[in-house]
Amino acid sequence: MGTTIAVVNKKGGVGKTTTVINLAASLCALGKKALVVDTDPQANACLGLGIDIRSVSKSLYDCLAGTATTQEAVVATDTENLYVLPSHPSLVVAERELLRTNEREKRMQELLHPLRDGYDYIFLDCSPSLGLITVNALTAADTVIIPLQCEYFALSGMTQLLNTVKIIRNRLNPGLEIEGFLITMFDARMRQSQAIRQAVLDHFRELVFETVIRRSSRLSESQRFAKPMITYDAGSTGAQDYMRLAAEILERAGKG
Ligand SMILES: Nc1ncnc2c1ncn2[C@@H]1O[C@H](COP(=O)(O)OP(=O)(O)O)[C@@H](O)[C@H]1O
Ligand SMILES: [Mg+2]
Repeated sequence: MGTTIAVVNKKGGVGKTTTVINLAASLCALGKKALVVDTDPQANACLGLGIDIRSVSKSLYDCLAGTATTQEAVVATDTENLYVLPSHPSLVVAERELLRTNEREKRMQELLHPLRDGYDYIFLDCSPSLGLITVNALTAADTVIIPLQCEYFALSGMTQLLNTVKIIRNRLNPGLEIEGFLITMFDARMRQSQAIRQAVLDHFRELVFETVIRRSSRLSESQRFAKPMITYDAGSTGAQDYMRLAAEILERAGKG
């Protein structure tokens, strides 16, 4: 059975979607099969992987509404062994509809269950909120990756997020673990970057990935061209950093 990893942070722009796209693609390059579930109504993961949400017939919204199965909604990407369960702007409505249902926090877990055997890794790209869809993602996940943008307020909002993780562990998903805190947009030329990294290490210690994602303009460029970094520019620092992260995760899981 595969591992389901939710990538969360209540803050936007910290590198969640970039991490989902590039970590998933890097694991595929290392021979794994991966699924990206885009749970953000903004559908940036779809865009970055070249999936035009106007042309997909079924999305996560239809799955949550009960009008499609997840198997029907999954689409292939241009990257071998990398698949997407697309998002849709109507997911905003799904959030309200879910509020009225029983077991409303467990819908995504139920929906993804039949897919778990089909993939080595399932990544849940979350929106910058701790709303019901994100609670569903955390309930469906085995582990959580928390990207932290390397800037002064990197740790703000962390207490609330970690509390949410704790509550979900206690009430809904006892096996939920933290896969790791990931420092993103690290800039070695900035003196503060090293200080912030040290502060994060002091706080979370062995839960911080050894791999640091450096700031690289090629990463945002690759998203405009709707390609993962290893396809767009395999020699770039962005591609190298995410390959290293993929190797670190496999190693920790004893699959390296
Ligand atoms: N390591 C990086 N270096 C440079 N730009 C980055 C890096 N990681 C992400 N970005 C850019 O920062 C912006 C926000 O990243 P994104 O992954 O969309 O964040 P989130 O999903 O948390 O909102 C995007 O334009 C993205 O291309
Ligand atoms: Mg995002």
